[in-house]
Amino acid sequence: MSRGPTVRQNITRSLLRVLQQGRTIDTAIAEHESSVAECDRAYYRATLYGVIRHYSELDFLLSGLLDKPIKVKDADLSMLLLSGLFQIHWLSTASHAVVNESVKVAIRLNKSWARGLINAVLRNALRTDLDARLNSADAITRSNHPEWLYQRIAAAWPNRLEAIMTANQQQAPMWLRNNRSKQDRSEYLQQLEAAKMKAQPPQWPVDAICLDRPQSVETLPGFDQGHCSVQDVAAQCAAGYLAPEPGMKVLDLCAAPGGKSAHLLESYKGISLTCVDNDPGRLKRVEQTLARIGSNAQVVCGDATQAGCLLKGQQFDRILLDAPCSATGVVRRHPDIKWLREPDDISTLTTLQSAMLSEAWSLLAPKGRLLYATCSILPEENNTQIEQFIANHPDTHSVAIDSTQRLPSALPLSHGLQIFPGLDDADGFYYALLEKHG
Ligand SMILES: C[S@@+](CC[C@H](N)C(=O)[O-])C[C@H]1O[C@@H](n2cnc3c(N)ncnc32)[C@H](O)[C@@H]1O
Repeated sequence: MSRGPTVRQNITRSLLRVLQQGRTIDTAIAEHESSVAECDRAYYRATLYGVIRHYSELDFLLSGLLDKPIKVKDADLSMLLLSGLFQIHWLSTASHAVVNESVKVAIRLNKSWARGLINAVLRNALRTDLDARLNSADAITRSNHPEWLYQRIAAAWPNRLEAIMTANQQQAPMWLRNNRSKQDRSEYLQQLEAAKMKAQPPQWPVDAICLDRPQSVETLPGFDQGHCSVQDVAAQCAAGYLAPEPGMKVLDLCAAPGGKSAHLLESYKGISLTCVDNDPGRLKRVEQTLARIGSNAQVVCGDATQAGCLLKGQQFDRILLDAPCSATGVVRRHPDIKWLREPDDISTLTTLQSAMLSEAWSLLAPKGRLLYATCSILPEENNTQIEQFIANHPDTHSVAIDSTQRLPSALPLSHGLQIFPGLDDADGFYYALLEKHG
């Protein structure tokens, strides 16, 4: 037996990090993927993402296959069994491989005593009609969302609940953003075709391209030279909504990792852009992105709720506030969000968003425009937040977003637009454009 951890052991360790210790999938991958053999990495990711996507259903199946619950101190065995069940039911991995390899992992975990348990549970699963079992579960279990989040989405969007739940279980497509300062989108599409990468351009936003199959970024034509970036189509709406004019001072108040900043600089020549974020590590990524596309901005590390002090009372013509939020619109890309968020996080976030909005407003020049954005689908972070802001700020009104600049399924609200996950192949997003009276 080799000494390094096997792929299944790495899957078990990564699941423990996310589902037991509350870390993100990205953190777990950063810690463990390098010890997975190159040839096993796709399998590692497919199982890790898959178990996290289907956690409620898997947990339901596992409970039904156990005589008594597994102790918390043996949570690694639970993770091993959940991944075994996922491999059997969703990946159709050869049954003997799942059972034998899972038993070996139990031994490597120094839990030889559990060989019988692992063997019995997985063999029992192979004899069971798992689809029929799953059909007997309630709607919340089958949605694979925690009950509080399911109930909140149900209350907010009762007629869209099923569609949202289904979309959140899908894998998102890979969207690119053509860098129009380097080449037209049609030219970049030709370069993709020459590289045998099939892709589709939507009518709007004008820089967006949806790849038929995800690709690693190194293989994308001209990626290192900044000819394209990876960015969801919904996120690509921001630059066009803010539409700064040459000579304008623009502030991106929560800028990292810099996707929307880069899009603004690629699209609007002659603007002066300031990027603020309070996370130094993420701000480095803004600098790397701007260097890759060959653009410049003033990059400032600090708290957006203290931006007046930070920016020494400067006034801006355009402000983008892409606020920290529940990220409930991007669950299909980040399924760990479902399990990492807590119900209390929402009110903490709405308080922070409201403080950021007020501070941003104080930096906006008369007749200036502020674009408020979240990747949330919860009204309290979105339309309700903006309704309250407008009620408390009589010097503002919201500007309707032109119908030619909307994704076809975006829903206009009393203020701004809600984009729903999965529709138009987009992430869930909210945008409201506010103008300050002169
Ligand atoms: C939704 S992300 C921004 C994404 C970015 N606009 C883009 O398109 O790449 C929100 C950002 O807000 C930052 N943030 C959170 N709290 C902050 C605060 N109090 N002050 C400044 N930035 C903050 C986070 O570090 C995070 O980078």
